[in-house]
Amino acid sequence: MDSIQIQGGVPLQGKVRIQGSKNAALPVLAATLLAGGSSFIRNCPRITDVFAMISLLKNIGCRVSWQGEGLYVDASRVDCREIGTEAATGMRSSLCLLGALVGRCGSAVMEHPGGCVIGKRPIDLHLGALRQMGVEFREEEGRLLASADRLNGAEIRLPFPSVGATENVILAAVLARGDTVLEGAALEPEIAALCRYLKGCGAGIEGIGTGRLLIRGGRELSGAEFTVPADRIVAGTYLFGCIGTGGSVLLEDAPWEEMKSALELAEHMGGKICISREGVYVQAPDRPRAVECIRTETYPGFPTDLQSVALAAAVRADGDVMIRETIFENRFRVVEELRRMGARIEVREPDTVLIHGVDSIRGVPVEARELRGGAALVVAGLMARGETTVTGCRYIYRGYENICRDFRELGARITGA
Ligand code: EPZ
Repeated sequence: MDSIQIQGGVPLQGKVRIQGSKNAALPVLAATLLAGGSSFIRNCPRITDVFAMISLLKNIGCRVSWQGEGLYVDASRVDCREIGTEAATGMRSSLCLLGALVGRCGSAVMEHPGGCVIGKRPIDLHLGALRQMGVEFREEEGRLLASADRLNGAEIRLPFPSVGATENVILAAVLARGDTVLEGAALEPEIAALCRYLKGCGAGIEGIGTGRLLIRGGRELSGAEFTVPADRIVAGTYLFGCIGTGGSVLLEDAPWEEMKSALELAEHMGGKICISREGVYVQAPDRPRAVECIRTETYPGFPTDLQSVALAAAVRADGDVMIRETIFENRFRVVEELRRMGARIEVREPDTVLIHGVDSIRGVPVEARELRGGAALVVAGLMARGETTVTGCRYIYRGYENICRDFRELGARITGA
């Protein structure tokens, strides 16, 4: 079923466990291709983007199976001839297969990776960096063909700390001949998670967590066990769901060390935050406090992936709130749906909206058009008086294992797939 029904206006109460991170799991699953043997990846989220990645790995000869909450991946029989037949389409995260396939097989064939409708999503930084390592690209009938006789280490500087381009360089560099220095690497925690998995496989990577990575090339990699960290964006989604509904919740296993900017914003919006061994406890005010401006930035700044849910929570603020989106050029599509619920939002610039907080919004049918905007509409439905029906939920299931189950754990009156 592609729709969710919500009877809103109920403050969230209770505790919920945070699932494994989509954006950590996907590059790690791509990286299993580089290991000559078997890996066991624990705490993998059961989301459609992971299911899609699993079928891509199977199509090129990996044996993949769920064992409890973990994924067993045996990449010992990758058939490099198969990659030409199976294009990685429909999701942006397949792009990180590019670096892994070129690393393992010396070539890759992909349709231009899809992904959300949140912006042009170019891949120039990926291509420029991989070209420096000896990869050649050509387009054929809308498909991207990559090939490299030999991958060589290089000195690479990214002009923008692209998460995906950083991941692709790391994945190509671990098997390349010679060392690679990557300056301007993304600092998102998912990069460190990828590096930890690869080090577990025997890779040599220095500077983890910094913007300068040294990746030792030419090593034989074995498989490894790895536990996917909790998803900081899912935890942040439920955090702002609590702020928007005026509730009090415990986010079990929330990776608070990776959520400092989100926790800081929640406090500025009136939330009381308590961090314990169990996770993050947040107690919200009846109505969110207005903050002057929410500006998205690369890590450790406020994450673009939480911008839509923070926007949803802010529509009930006790004043005006400005939001500036500095990472993607089209990440305000949820505004028109929120307006239909009674939110007062002005689009001042393509990257800036001004919210005039209202005391309440009303439940109406709304449509999700991308992953995080869809989650924001669910949060708005929880805040609204009356019934909200959210359609287009297939986008939400790309990143949330079971958003209805999780919000029901927190006392929400919500039904759906
Ligand atoms: C990753 O996308 C995440 N996806 C995104 O999460 C996240 O929003 C983004 O990083 C930023 O944190 C996954 O990890 C699967 P980027 P990615 O390359 O790698 C521009 C979600 O909701 N750019 O850091 O695509 C790009 O257009 C998703 O879970 C270029 O110009 O992000 C964008 O404006 C959405 N050229 C900006 O950089 C390039 O070659 C950030 O992109 C690459 C990117």
